Amino acid sequence: MEENLLAPADSRSQEEYAAEVSQIMTVRAMGQVPLAYIRTYGCQQNVADSEKIKGLLERMGFQFTETEEDADFILFNTCAVREHAEDRVFGNVGALKNSKRRHPSQIIAVCGCMMEQEHAAERIRKSFPFVSLVFGTHMIHRLPELLYETITGGRRVFARGGESPVITEGLPVHRDSRFKAWLTVMYGCDNFCSYCIVPYVRGRERSRSPQAIVEEFRALVAEGYKDITLLGQNVNSYGKGLEDPISFAELLRRLDETEGDYRIRFMTSHPKDATHELFDTIAASKHISHHVHLPFQSGNDRVLREMNRRYDREKYLSLVSYAKQKIPDLSLTSDVIVGFPGETYEEFCDTLSLIREVGFTSLFTFIYSPREGTRAAKMDDPIPHEEKARWMAELLRTQEEISTVRCAAMVGRTERVLVEGINEKTGLLECRTDGNLIVETEGPAERIGSFADVAITSAGNFILRGRFAEE
Ligand code: SAH
Ligand code: SF4
Ligand code: F3S
Repeated sequence: MEENLLAPADSRSQEEYAAEVSQIMTVRAMGQVPLAYIRTYGCQQNVADSEKIKGLLERMGFQFTETEEDADFILFNTCAVREHAEDRVFGNVGALKNSKRRHPSQIIAVCGCMMEQEHAAERIRKSFPFVSLVFGTHMIHRLPELLYETITGGRRVFARGGESPVITEGLPVHRDSRFKAWLTVMYGCDNFCSYCIVPYVRGRERSRSPQAIVEEFRALVAEGYKDITLLGQNVNSYGKGLEDPISFAELLRRLDETEGDYRIRFMTSHPKDATHELFDTIAASKHISHHVHLPFQSGNDRVLREMNRRYDREKYLSLVSYAKQKIPDLSLTSDVIVGFPGETYEEFCDTLSLIREVGFTSLFTFIYSPREGTRAAKMDDPIPHEEKARWMAELLRTQEEISTVRCAAMVGRTERVLVEGINEKTGLLECRTDGNLIVETEGPAERIGSFADVAITSAGNFILRGRFAEE
């Protein structure tokens, strides 16, 4: 029997459910600490959600494993943004069948954006009977209750949609890094770009209160976090609908006042809402990175209109020109869609010329993928995939040329980097510049998690090599 668990939570609090789950799981794991395996697909929003899920699981007595076979609880946090993302999820969930056969007590769960789509949840229900818990993006705070129901109810639990989304403050967070942190400032999206599923699976736009954000931010700085990224699908419309609405730029100014040695990043900025005030704020700030991710999607006005992006090429370029004038070392990155329904080769060439004109540090490039329920999915799409793939190859070649020139221009400069990790194969340290470029250096692993000055000694197409400046 299956259940849609949409009734309001009973009188037990989530903390009480968590305590009960903890007891039951310890018994089931025969005195051992129960282990959870979490796999996250998709964007930083999902990564941040998974850190909350892990926080809640910790509250329920779990520790974490990197191996599915060892886990008592397996959870896939899914993404619906393109078909390829969905196919991978179904493939990987299917592969869990064998693990479940070998370990019948394993609890297998799927959550995230895909599960907010009826057809995807139905497919899990019908084709993957070993998945015993499914929940959507608005249900994370009820995970203790959902897991309790799954373990004790003797039936599959499907808890999706149904509730008007609220912001739950105060959830525990298990952060994956000790020096890089994600901080969600707003949830959902109201923009309904015609190709995009996100507004359907993440619900309406809602902002956290500035007080809650400032408090979390200060705590992160005090704990020693060096690189804090503010998250939202469209951070520049932050603040709408709050009792005392404030702009995103104002929020940035308040955060930037915090004393300490750290960098602020943010994503994503929608060009229709990015203001001159934003770039003035970055220019005047102490801690805000001179890197902005500003997706343009297409360089052609007709395509932009059909995408419902609500800016045109000229507005985008004039915003970029203002930004570069205010912040001469500004590093811009972007997202692009190739082969939107009805796009012609000539229109695609406007995308190529925009890329040359702006000179992006790097690009995230996507071939258009139809998403059921969106407006673009109903549009005529006559260009075959192979043709779009050729356009994509041309776009990648163009960007590679630009990136190569840009990287070469960095040689001889000294950059302040955050040392982020070590490449297991080469043994080199991987560092990130303020502008979001990767520099590889030789050096001791003890440097990981701290800032350093690095002299750039050579450049590849996308990656730089350097050495610590004081050596
Ligand atoms: N809120 C962000 C983007 C979130 S989705 C913004 O507006 O910029 C991340 C990227 O995926 C988008 O910028 C877009 O380039 C790409 N994308 C979204 N839907 C897509 C689709 N149906 N097909 C191909 N790419 C898509
Ligand atoms: Fe999707 Fe557009 Fe919202 Fe970004 S702004 S999440 S592309 S609808
Ligand atoms: Fe994917 Fe959901 Fe992010 S659809 S891109 S994980 S908001």
